Amino acid sequence: MFKAVSRPLPNLKDWRFSIDQWGIAWAEFDRDGESQNALGQRPLEELGEIIAEVEKRARDKQVIGLVILSGKERGFIVGADIREFAELKTETDVVDKLRPVTGLFDRIEKLPIPVVCAINGFCLGGGLELALACHYRIATRDAGTKLGFPEVKLGIFPGFNGTVRAIRQAGAPAAMTVMLTGKMMSASAARAVGLVDQLVDSRGALPWAARKAILSKRKSKPAGFAKRMLDVWPVRNLLARRMRDQLSKKAREAHYPAPYRLIDLYETYGGNDEAMKAAESRAFAPLMVSDQSRNLRRVFWLSELLKGQAPKNLGWRPQRVHVIGAGTMGADIAGWCVASGMEVTLQDVSPEQIAKGIAAQGKLFARKFKTKAQRDAAKARLIADPAGDGIPRADVVIEAIVEKLDIKRRVLADVEARMKPGSVVATNTSSLQIEDIAAGLADPGRLIGLHFFNPVALMPLVEVVRGAQSREDEVKRGAAFVAAIDKFPLITKSVPGFLVNRVLTPYMFGAMKRLQEGESKERIDEAARAFGMPMGPIELADTVGLDVCSHVAKILNYPSAGSALEQLVAAGKLGKKTGEGFYVWQAGKPIRDPRRTDAEEMDELGRELIQPLIDEAQKCLDAGIVENADLVDAGVIFGTGFAPFRGGPLHYKASESPPAPAHAAAAE
Ligand code: NAI
Repeated sequence: MFKAVSRPLPNLKDWRFSIDQWGIAWAEFDRDGESQNALGQRPLEELGEIIAEVEKRARDKQVIGLVILSGKERGFIVGADIREFAELKTETDVVDKLRPVTGLFDRIEKLPIPVVCAINGFCLGGGLELALACHYRIATRDAGTKLGFPEVKLGIFPGFNGTVRAIRQAGAPAAMTVMLTGKMMSASAARAVGLVDQLVDSRGALPWAARKAILSKRKSKPAGFAKRMLDVWPVRNLLARRMRDQLSKKAREAHYPAPYRLIDLYETYGGNDEAMKAAESRAFAPLMVSDQSRNLRRVFWLSELLKGQAPKNLGWRPQRVHVIGAGTMGADIAGWCVASGMEVTLQDVSPEQIAKGIAAQGKLFARKFKTKAQRDAAKARLIADPAGDGIPRADVVIEAIVEKLDIKRRVLADVEARMKPGSVVATNTSSLQIEDIAAGLADPGRLIGLHFFNPVALMPLVEVVRGAQSREDEVKRGAAFVAAIDKFPLITKSVPGFLVNRVLTPYMFGAMKRLQEGESKERIDEAARAFGMPMGPIELADTVGLDVCSHVAKILNYPSAGSALEQLVAAGKLGKKTGEGFYVWQAGKPIRDPRRTDAEEMDELGRELIQPLIDEAQKCLDAGIVENADLVDAGVIFGTGFAPFRGGPLHYKASESPPAPAHAAAAE
């Protein structure tokens, strides 16, 4: 930034405002007391003061341009302030809240002097909407610079007229894709679609580029004629239909209405900017106060709660990981740690297994890393280590070998003897008691469980298991490690099945029982999906593997002898992995009997199927398996995919049961 010659509005708390020697006004957003900039009430009010000041000075020819930028080292604006959404109870509240903001953004757009937005770091949601109200956008090429509209993930869509401006700048197909998927883009991708006008290499270069853009009166061009042609009715109608088709494959309208309403909005008003602006607010308000959106915001908050399970100031930064066992789990755990920046040594009794496990990570690296240099660096960080040479250097050792107590004990005793002091040692066991495994160590207090889920790359949760003997600081560091590899830690007590398998098992066994009683597997699975589960329970059993299900049944004492499950296991039909279980599998998909899926009334069946899961979640809470109800909900959502828009099993239970009559308490 340049030397200020005057600093009007000295009393702002969340912004700094100055005017430099060229008459350029600089509005620097640096929200007081917060590490990130969110557009809450006060910052918006202060921005209003700034714009009023700029309007006045522009009229008097005292300023020749305005630059909006962030004062944070990292990050432009992460969006509107989600914490304030809870205050909005009615649609009228929402519309009243939106009106001054959309009015303010219109005034920014109409300023008679050039307005440049300078972006470094996250520029999301309401932040991107503000950027789009400016006349010209410059962003850094920094890998941390990401732009996007994540609103659909919260059950809403952009509400500060971002829908209109995004389509105007990028054209409908690109803009709608960005808004419908909620995915973030790099600065260069944003430039390619027209949401950003210019790229610079670093944060330091931003003020210079912004100054130059103002002095040369640069102005972004809206999407060209060809793109805007798509806004003409018949084409718009066609495009909308195609978008709806694609969307319906991913999300049901009853569960996720927001993207559907966004398509409606575009279909009806696309091309007519003023009408679309007004319609945007009208369509936004009911979404904002809907249960789905409240629950999705809750899920966001629950993810923060889980991250909060990892203490921040331990002064311990794990960098080297040693994984023992290069099978299904170990190899993927190793790959994931590498993708998160760690250096990993991978050990197995079978060198072929190590080689196979390492080779299998190529897919993950290809997805995670864009450049060959990054992929090569990742490969170099994943080291085959048949002799366990990495153990003495490792900050974290994870054991993921066969589920046999005596072998685990032996391997971990050897690890303990070779590990450096202060490092974490964990087992990925899913069914053995942590205490039994720890009993083989000289210092049993050192061992914790780190229970990953399959497939590792897709499942966001890791249960951090506190054995009866585990020392608290080991548990804390376990949680910190999980956060360091970008997963959500959930601290659980050491009981069979921990939290996630414990709640899943009665749900899956309940479904199998119905199957045995004559219900069709297609109807069962469809009913669960109609409830909002990502996959039906029978398909899930096949996917997990029927041998694994049968094993879990035993450790949780479910009577399954003689059941269809045991018969299939005995016949070697283990599910997806063998090509047949309850379903026959082809090309990774179950073959469903189409005649059986068309039943309409699925609601009741879905609720009945899910009830055992809810009951078990309550029991887990009562037994103190995790600390509180919100953590139970968080664990079940992120560990099983439980319908996020329902807010978690216990939240759902509470919202479904009728509230106690108000006079009941008084009558007691
Ligand atoms: P797996 O059978 O695919 O892999 C086990 C690997 O351990 C094999 O490659 C084997 O060669 C190796 N191994 C055996 N003895 C060894 C030793 N003494 N030293 C070094 N390597 C040795 O098994 P998977 O499925 O990966 O399971 C591993 C652990 O993870 C088990 O404790 C299991 O309960 C747990 N788990 C499994 C999940 C799953 O879905 N498969 C989910 C969560 C936990």
